[in-house]
Amino acid sequence: MRLRSLFAIFAAACFFQASAADIIVRSVNNQVELTVTHQSNGAVLYSINYKGKKVILPSGLGFKFQTPAISLDQFDLKKVDSSSMDQTWKPVWGENASIRDQYRELTLSLVDKNGSGVEMQIVFRVFNEGVGFRYVFPQQEKLNHFIIADEKTQFALAGDHMAFWIPGDFDTNEFKYNHTRISKVDASSGMMSQEIHAKTSFSANGVQTPLMMKSDDGLYINIHEAALVNYPAMDILIDKSTNTLNSYLVPDAVGNKAYLQAPAKTPWRTIIVSDKATEILAANKMILNLNDPSKIEDPSWIKPQKMVGVWWEMHIGKSSWDYGVTKSASFMQPHGHHGANTENVKRYIDFAAKNGIQSVLVEGWNTGWEDWFGQWKEDVFDFVTPYPDFNVVELQKYAASKNVKIIMHHETSASVTNYERWMDTAYRFMKKYGYDAVKTGYVGRIIPRGEHHDGQWMIRHYERVAAKTASYHIMVDAHEPVRPTGLQRTYPNWLACEAARGNEFNAWSEGNPPDHETILPFTRLMGGPMDYTPGIFRVKLNYLDSNKKESVHTTLCKQLALYVTMYSPLQMAADLPENYEARSDAFQFIRDVAVDWDETRILEAEPGDYVEIARKAKGSPNWFIGAITDENARNFLTPLNFLDSDKKYVATIYRDADNASWDKNPEAYKIEKYIVDSKSGLVLKLAAGGGAAVSIMPATDNDIRSYQKINKK
Ligand code: NOJ
Ligand code: CA
Repeated sequence: MRLRSLFAIFAAACFFQASAADIIVRSVNNQVELTVTHQSNGAVLYSINYKGKKVILPSGLGFKFQTPAISLDQFDLKKVDSSSMDQTWKPVWGENASIRDQYRELTLSLVDKNGSGVEMQIVFRVFNEGVGFRYVFPQQEKLNHFIIADEKTQFALAGDHMAFWIPGDFDTNEFKYNHTRISKVDASSGMMSQEIHAKTSFSANGVQTPLMMKSDDGLYINIHEAALVNYPAMDILIDKSTNTLNSYLVPDAVGNKAYLQAPAKTPWRTIIVSDKATEILAANKMILNLNDPSKIEDPSWIKPQKMVGVWWEMHIGKSSWDYGVTKSASFMQPHGHHGANTENVKRYIDFAAKNGIQSVLVEGWNTGWEDWFGQWKEDVFDFVTPYPDFNVVELQKYAASKNVKIIMHHETSASVTNYERWMDTAYRFMKKYGYDAVKTGYVGRIIPRGEHHDGQWMIRHYERVAAKTASYHIMVDAHEPVRPTGLQRTYPNWLACEAARGNEFNAWSEGNPPDHETILPFTRLMGGPMDYTPGIFRVKLNYLDSNKKESVHTTLCKQLALYVTMYSPLQMAADLPENYEARSDAFQFIRDVAVDWDETRILEAEPGDYVEIARKAKGSPNWFIGAITDENARNFLTPLNFLDSDKKYVATIYRDADNASWDKNPEAYKIEKYIVDSKSGLVLKLAAGGGAAVSIMPATDNDIRSYQKINKK
């Protein structure tokens, strides 16, 4: 229920004006405090404290418009409204069965002080987890269609914090993370910095959000955005002289930022803060709360699921996407050993059916892969023409007979105009042949030429795909899209995105460093699920070609733990069926692990070091724990006090062998079983670059007879 109330009534309780021009709003638990100041020159500033510590110093708000040509940063304050919210809602799928949305809201109604008469509102929401704010342009006579040249939002930091950052870029986020102080960020070679340098000769440092920082006084601060719709993504331009972060919107082909029509609103700018790293991970719900409710009335066709795929075998060079002779450049060195042939796909279907995996992704099924990479070519794929050895009808029948779904693949090669022309035809083709999920991909430079993956044109495209697939009852997994901002609440058929450096980099590059997966939950995953493609058992990749140097930079058990630490309702068991068959005992964890949850407990976390999470499967008494570490070995003492106090469970621990490590002995593991209850504690021993995965299920009488009881260890 929404409680609208007069500002005056609320003033005594939680909103009050400390000085003539200061408005203060506190979170319900009183820990987060927002101060908004309307200065005599008309500027509106905001600042944020957490438990009395400074998080954001007074920071500017506003815009520069291209059309009409005005600066919107000095205002007359017309009205102040306040309200509050306390509601609980149920996501279609997620980390928890229900989510509490509790905040205090403040809306400033402003008019340009410098004569244009343009009206704008700034809406702030103060949660226990942090603050979100957005700009709103109401319907008005003085503003119709308008063009944004720059958004002037600032985040003035209270210190020179340590930050996990990747360079500002308008097209990709597939980077390793850097960890430095804000003053030591060197992102000058990044795309955004280069663009600013070319225009202004200013030596800029641009980074991306979610930006995860830690202050010397122990605060964890995360800056991102929520509900990115019809607007470009926000990068961050660092002003090192004042530790101030400035919003920098991704430009379009002609250098403008956004084209809006009043009434209009921007995405929310989000500042999440806590003195506990574990609370930051739980606070990603604030981003969901800032998104609109689901637009899908009957979501019964949306299914969280596990998949295998004709996929890793191409990434490690066992087979190819293409069918024939190379015409020109290719993503991998193709050799015409086509992976997506009917027999091979059947092999994956058999494996999925046998192991309770719902679906099989098939890449390279359609014509075009001989000549798709790096071409900036308009018409590469048509999304409806299979290669001659991929029998669509036969596979439809075969998959149906085994109760397995095939997942469609639409690599667009970033020729998005072409994809837009084909979308309806392609989705009708999918429905005709029994597909109900698609993995999209945007590898390459965008067509329309000059547009960017993270610009307004593409943001609108991703939303069109979400809405259109929903109308066909199709689920989506987007690779190379913009980083997510919680839109999975509004479009729950949009199951997952890549939008970061996934496990695939371990197949064909220098790889992901051992701390990578401990950083992603604090950065990329704050906005939504990631299709990281975990589950690689043969981590040393020289088994097909002894010259192959690459390897996955984790232990096998860490690959298992990722199913719990890297939240997604769509999880791939990415390795080859034969590699799973050879280690069927370890594969049991992947068979068992859930992809949708009633409850999530963040047990231990420190970005860049370790993450330990326990989750209870949706509608089931089973719990799963994942613990991962960086390059350092460590132990976790894990009290199981979240278990039902009147039940006995059998805990199956998949752990690194005592002599395991990510670089020297990554594939050695041990599986142990114990009887546990809510008073038990587990000691999980993680090797360097390792992990531990635990399934906890109600014990049978036979289990109780067979396995030793663990007490507090
Ligand atoms: C990059 C994607 O991340 C990967 O999963 C896919 O196999 C290739 N593009 C080909 O589309
Ligand atoms: Ca990718």
